[in-house]
Amino acid sequence: MQSTARVVVVTGAARGIGYGIAECFAARKDRIVIADLDLAAAEAAAAKLDTEAVGLACNVADRASVQAMIEAVVARFGRIDVLVNNAGICPFIEVMKMSPEVWQKTLDVNLTGAFHCTQLAAEKMIAQGTGGRVVFITSLAENVTGPAQVDYGASKAGMRMTMVGFATALGKHGITCNAIAPGMILTDMTRFHWEKPENAAFLRTRVPVGRIGTPTDIGNAAVFLASPEAAYISGVTLRVDGGHQACCV
Ligand SMILES: NC(=O)c1ccc[n+]([C@@H]2O[C@H](COP(=O)([O-])OP(=O)(O)OC[C@H]3O[C@@H](n4cnc5c(N)ncnc54)[C@H](O)[C@@H]3O)[C@@H](O)[C@H]2O)c1
Repeated sequence: MQSTARVVVVTGAARGIGYGIAECFAARKDRIVIADLDLAAAEAAAAKLDTEAVGLACNVADRASVQAMIEAVVARFGRIDVLVNNAGICPFIEVMKMSPEVWQKTLDVNLTGAFHCTQLAAEKMIAQGTGGRVVFITSLAENVTGPAQVDYGASKAGMRMTMVGFATALGKHGITCNAIAPGMILTDMTRFHWEKPENAAFLRTRVPVGRIGTPTDIGNAAVFLASPEAAYISGVTLRVDGGHQACCV
């Protein structure tokens, strides 16, 4: 696993946590691929980074789209060193009112998307012969959930075990796989919830460090898990939640 400028692919990185992750890798001059459903937003996000970066269109739920994105990365940069499976959705629909279509889409994007991206990127990493890093962005919902996040929790728990399984398969190639489970992070996905005063007050009482998380909090953890110093860490989830899940008061 090389420690100089690497090629880092972050899915769903046109905004939010994914963009924060991209910024943290860009700060160490890695070369960045922002792979997102929204091509215009991906290109605009790549243009803002202070390093060599490109925005590519990709629907992680669509195998052909992921394959095309991975080929485009190799055509442009010649290699892939780090994959961050960040793209995800959370429809926030109460389970008794959820249609089978919504259920399936959440699984297709969050869970099957991570499978497509990891398998196809790992093929390139194995062929390169220099190891690699895969970071899955799961959620506290890999362990706990609620009535309006049953699809989401199922997808994230599945993602965790997908990560563990790939860790067992890819270790012999010098490729580590780990997850980051973010707690409450302020992004477009969650802004509607945290802007309500009662929810903001709840958060301050339940998160020991006393604030909502930022995409940079997650990016810093991703940079660590992708570093040479993390070479002996594989198959684990790192909670980055300000102590939220540890807190029962
Ligand atoms: N925000 C939080 O509090 C929080 C907490 C825990 C986990 N997460 C996870 O972090 C990740 C990012 O969340 P966020 O809050 O930044 O979300 P967000 O909605 O702000 O951004 C998601 C990005 O993913 C892209 N995307 C959506 N579907 C895609 C697809 N099929 N293919 C490719 N790109 C797609 C969107 O275009 C968007 O740019 C998700 O996996 C989410 O589950 C978020």
